[in-house]
Amino acid sequence: MSSSSLLQASISSSSSAFFANTKINFNNRAQNVSLPAKPVGVCTCVATPQAEKTAFKTQVSRNVNIAKLQAGYLFPEIARRRAAHLQKYPDAQVISLGIGDTTEPIPEVITSAMAKRSHALSTLEGYSGYGAEQGEKPLRAAIASTFYDNLDIEEDDIFVSDGAKCDISRLQVVFGSNVTMAVQDPSYPAYVDSSVIMGQTGEYQKAVEKFGNIEYMRCTPENGFFPDLRTVSRTDIIFFCSPNNPTGSAATREQLTQLVQFAKDNGSIIVYDSAYAMYMSDDNPRSIFEIPGAKEVAIETSSFSKYAGFTGVRLGWTVVPKQLLFSDGFPVAKDFNRIVCTCFNGASNISQAGGLACLSPEGLKAMHEVIGFYKENTNIIVETFESLGFKVYGGKNAPYVWVHFPGRSSWDVFSEILEKTHVVTTPGSGFGPGGEGFVRVSAFGHRSNVLEACKRFKQLYK
Ligand SMILES: Cc1ncc(COP(=O)(O)O)c(C=O)c1O
Repeated sequence: MSSSSLLQASISSSSSAFFANTKINFNNRAQNVSLPAKPVGVCTCVATPQAEKTAFKTQVSRNVNIAKLQAGYLFPEIARRRAAHLQKYPDAQVISLGIGDTTEPIPEVITSAMAKRSHALSTLEGYSGYGAEQGEKPLRAAIASTFYDNLDIEEDDIFVSDGAKCDISRLQVVFGSNVTMAVQDPSYPAYVDSSVIMGQTGEYQKAVEKFGNIEYMRCTPENGFFPDLRTVSRTDIIFFCSPNNPTGSAATREQLTQLVQFAKDNGSIIVYDSAYAMYMSDDNPRSIFEIPGAKEVAIETSSFSKYAGFTGVRLGWTVVPKQLLFSDGFPVAKDFNRIVCTCFNGASNISQAGGLACLSPEGLKAMHEVIGFYKENTNIIVETFESLGFKVYGGKNAPYVWVHFPGRSSWDVFSEILEKTHVVTTPGSGFGPGGEGFVRVSAFGHRSNVLEACKRFKQLYK
């Protein structure tokens, strides 16, 4: 049996046992149990029937908010389909341009700083245990001066973390269940899912493929992927990602100025996700704090994941300016600090050494080189689809290419591409109903894989 079929067997046997109908049929049980006619000195061990072993249920009710989530988080679902495809075609050379995980090695100037820090932990002088929950001072200072120079963001406005995704959920804990939220549609799924889990939303409405009580801000080619704010209802929180995952579009200075004004008019807080800011080619803001007045209405979260290949190392940060206040005048940063201290014990000291190396002159140069490599991949993918006559968006300011398949279901196109080319992409509708009819192709891949995938796309759609 191959390792994948072994895995499958173990998953299906344990999961079917786990999900077994737990109603116990006492009549059947009675038939299966053989009682000894008379006591004897030998004890016979009879295996407990499977159903009886797994029938126990606790008295804890399931979190109703988690129960509202649909199917599963998008990317595990794609991984599941990829695994199923491999089962069907064990010899297929599957290429993944799907989940958006980085593929290129971390530059050595960065890993050597992590190795040094790691070795120092074996010495009395170099050992350190728990660090500051908010991150090490030199790294906070380096983030402030590298990404927010002249923007009046100070070292203590920056909270170093184990990644932007984790910070999105910690921010949701700060906001609690009593707020309303808006998201770009389509958008990175963590905003909606964390909002559902926190109980900020209503039930999932299958007919419209939306959760109740979330404001979906439609972003389409027709509106240049920037929502028409005149039609957007007021919410407490506005999640906004630029450059955007999945559409690859980036908001202009004028658009972000409108967004900040909209938040001010409504007394809302913007959670601005700038995880791809270093991919920007156009002259658009790299940070929301480039917009005057943003510090009173915005938080920014970002990450080393896509800049330095830190998706596995884990390091990010969130900026919560002191000027940002709740309606009672209490600083949002103080509550965020409280949650960080309660739910998190600080980013790994080894990752932080890597982060500091990323922001040295050599580290910055090395990061730009890796980003440049992925941007070349993006160009190859864009040119491929354009040469096939597809309308293609994104790519210029983000490592994602948003390909339009008008009138078709995204999951159908995803399946067609996987079945016929063995290339994993991401169905646009997984990012919200506004993504229907699109497929996202990620530029994270080895060059040979990107070229091979594009060759297969050309064969399929010629
Ligand atoms: C828009 C966006 N924000 C955040 C993240 C997660 O970043 P991290 O690895 O820092 O948790 C991703 C990852 O794909 C992303 O696309």
